[in-house]
Amino acid sequence: MKLFIDSASTAEIEDCLKKGAIQGITTNPSIISKEPKTDFVEHVKKIVSVCKKFGGKISLSMEVTSEKAQEMEKEAIDYAERIKYSDLYIKIPLTGWDELETIKNLTSRGINVNCTCLFNEAQCLLAAYAGASYVSLFRGRMRDAGIESDQVISNTRRLLEETGLPSEIIAGSIRGPRDVIDSFLAGAHIVTVGVEHIKKMATHLKSKESADQFLSDFRKWTK
Ligand code: E4P
Repeated sequence: MKLFIDSASTAEIEDCLKKGAIQGITTNPSIISKEPKTDFVEHVKKIVSVCKKFGGKISLSMEVTSEKAQEMEKEAIDYAERIKYSDLYIKIPLTGWDELETIKNLTSRGINVNCTCLFNEAQCLLAAYAGASYVSLFRGRMRDAGIESDQVISNTRRLLEETGLPSEIIAGSIRGPRDVIDSFLAGAHIVTVGVEHIKKMATHLKSKESADQFLSDFRKWTK
């Protein structure tokens, strides 16, 4: 099981890597748009520099912004060639039938694919058959739509295992620390989450209360 950060902020990414809290990074066009306006590829290269500072081998996903499958393929090849990072994953949203051929062609060229914007087992299975390394289920948005997200995650995990497909499930669209744990317990291989929720995972009211009480007792004893 791996925890990824859903962010394009080099500061947030570095802060989490310093604490050993994350094993990968996912971005999407909305997340990128939260950063100061700059060249997309150049910004991703800055994130790659941070990854290399921590030894590389840190999974990094960036999403295509084309709308047609064939254009997505060209865009993905361009990014892979320009960024040259072995742990780069190109996100291909599965918005239609043709994107599966894009995924298959890219993986055949040795380009890692994270198939994203997924909402059910069938989409994940087809993306996995096409060769996607990751299948990204949008847990929060699924629940917004009344979909039993954790059952879908669990079913997908079972289907991947029974078919022997090597793809890993990423649970994204995470809304809080409890969602992270529930996603893992449901069978997600990876959960990707914003830094604000990662930080919340580290704290509990009773932890501070307990530590403070210990210190108070100790200080009384040393008086
Ligand atoms: C995964 O990387 C997804 O793009 C991301 O988690 C989506 O989150 P959202 O539903 O909050 O936009």
